[in-house]
Amino acid sequence: MPGKGKSATLLGMQNTPDGYGAVAKALHWLSAILILGGWLLGQTLDLFPKTMEEGLKLAHMWSGLGVLTLLAARLAWRRSGPQPDPIPSALDPWLARAAAVGHLALYALLLAVPVAGIVLSFARGEPVSLFGLFEIASPWARDRAFARSAREVHELLANAIMFVAALHAAAALMHHYLLGDATLRRMLPRAFQGKGTAA
Ligand code: HEM
Repeated sequence: MPGKGKSATLLGMQNTPDGYGAVAKALHWLSAILILGGWLLGQTLDLFPKTMEEGLKLAHMWSGLGVLTLLAARLAWRRSGPQPDPIPSALDPWLARAAAVGHLALYALLLAVPVAGIVLSFARGEPVSLFGLFEIASPWARDRAFARSAREVHELLANAIMFVAALHAAAALMHHYLLGDATLRRMLPRAFQGKGTAA
């Protein structure tokens, strides 16, 4: 490993064969918070007073754009350094394969949900603000029928990501409490890892 990578590992930033580094953990948990927050906001927007609607909608869109930004950072980080070794599993090979399919589905939905949200905004003829820095104007005129379909697709995909994320979380808890392995522990921030953190 080149010297630069070694110092990053020592600082706990980079992954090691035994576990995830601080960057991978931060990207993982920040994505989880933004997805949950974005979904909750999307589901409850109608319940807030009209005066708050514009600001909350913007918060919803920026959480989704944050998810997209973190996805790009995560894929770049994965490519730039080592991945922890898989933990020898007490699971049937078909369950391990199901976990791999679940991870792939999560990555696909992390891209598809925000993209469907952007399409929905454009279908309404509305611009998308990139964190208040600049706006991308809609390439299309407002189209009610298209916007209705785009909203349905966006909602369906958003519910799908929550479903797959819930399975993902349940699997992590099963590893921790039933199998007693380090699958969950090695993704937790150090302060929450407790003793005996070896993978
Ligand atoms: C992880 C990312 C996201 C999640 C989980 C998510 C989730 C949701 C959910 C659950 C709804 C409610 C759907 C309904 O009840 O019809 C919604 C609505 C909406 N979303 Fe998203 N969304 C995300 C990202 C985005 C992005 C990036 C944009 C656009 C830049 C966006 C734009 C919208 C719009 C315009 C609505 C309709 C709001 C209204 O009622 O006016 N979403 N979203």
